[in-house]
Amino acid sequence: MEPEKYYFTNKEKFTPKQVGEFYDLRNKEFLASYGDYIQSLRTEDMSEYMDYTLKSAKLEPGQTVLDAGCGVGGPSIYFAQKIDAQFHGVTISEAQYQTAKQTAAQKGLQEKVHFYHDDYHKIVEKFGPERFDRVIFLESFSHSQQKDELLEAAYQVLKPGGILYMKDLFERESDDPFEKKRIAQEIYTSNIAYNYNIGSLYPVLSKLRRLNFILDFVKVPEVNYLHWDQLKVTTLFQTLTGIGNDPSPEEFIFHIDYLEIRCQKPRYNTKQHREIYSMYKQADPAFFSGNQAR
Ligand SMILES: C[S@@+](CC[C@H](N)C(=O)[O-])C[C@H]1O[C@@H](n2cnc3c(N)ncnc32)[C@H](O)[C@@H]1O
Repeated sequence: MEPEKYYFTNKEKFTPKQVGEFYDLRNKEFLASYGDYIQSLRTEDMSEYMDYTLKSAKLEPGQTVLDAGCGVGGPSIYFAQKIDAQFHGVTISEAQYQTAKQTAAQKGLQEKVHFYHDDYHKIVEKFGPERFDRVIFLESFSHSQQKDELLEAAYQVLKPGGILYMKDLFERESDDPFEKKRIAQEIYTSNIAYNYNIGSLYPVLSKLRRLNFILDFVKVPEVNYLHWDQLKVTTLFQTLTGIGNDPSPEEFIFHIDYLEIRCQKPRYNTKQHREIYSMYKQADPAFFSGNQAR
């Protein structure tokens, strides 16, 4: 390993078109390893993790939900079987879109789950403003190379009082020079292998706050780690495709944190309602109650 070779070379940015081509090319291997849920932080029985996500994202009957970066539709299809809500999933991959559409039809869910082959950066043009009660990103946000614009778009398509939820990968940090370098190398490797643009947590939080979102939590998903899949599925995918890397055990370092972020779009326009200064007054009363997704 030649550290300098990789350090600070992470200039590659994958465009939506490239990301779409990557998922088209690998659709079969993803299905063979990840199945319906293309998430690397996962429980062995994915229904456990999906039930957790349903609660954590506060998905409830009667809502209209945008699943931004929906993969082959596994999560939206699962949720639609659990609650009576409308789901709209957008994927940049034609192959994933075809798979998602077929699966929804096979399960007779076409009236509740709608899939589109499109770019999630263009959701305002596609769906119009204030359309959704929820916008969810499940390990899909990290692909964006225009994260500020994407959060702006999510804000716009949400109804006042609507909730943005994401579970994604964020670069780990360290003051230790060796660790720091290894983290940067592994981020680079992951980005190349999966067409990711993995970023830091802080610019995302800063943008959410500048958009006036009311931040509910940032946390590690509360899965039972005895039921965690331990990256077995990821390893299988890497074996099937030969992508990713497998450094020696002494060099191995975990380079990302999986975090959930949940926030609410204010229910009032703060410019028109200047007297409502408290974020607690702005929030949906239910927003801060029953927070724990247990
Ligand atoms: C790791 S997969 C997660 C899929 C899905 N959320 C799940 O849980 O199974 C990332 C997804 O993000 C989608 N994606 C990435 N960039 C996108 C873009 N610009 N527009 C729409 N979807 C995008 C990919 O097509 C893929 O479906």
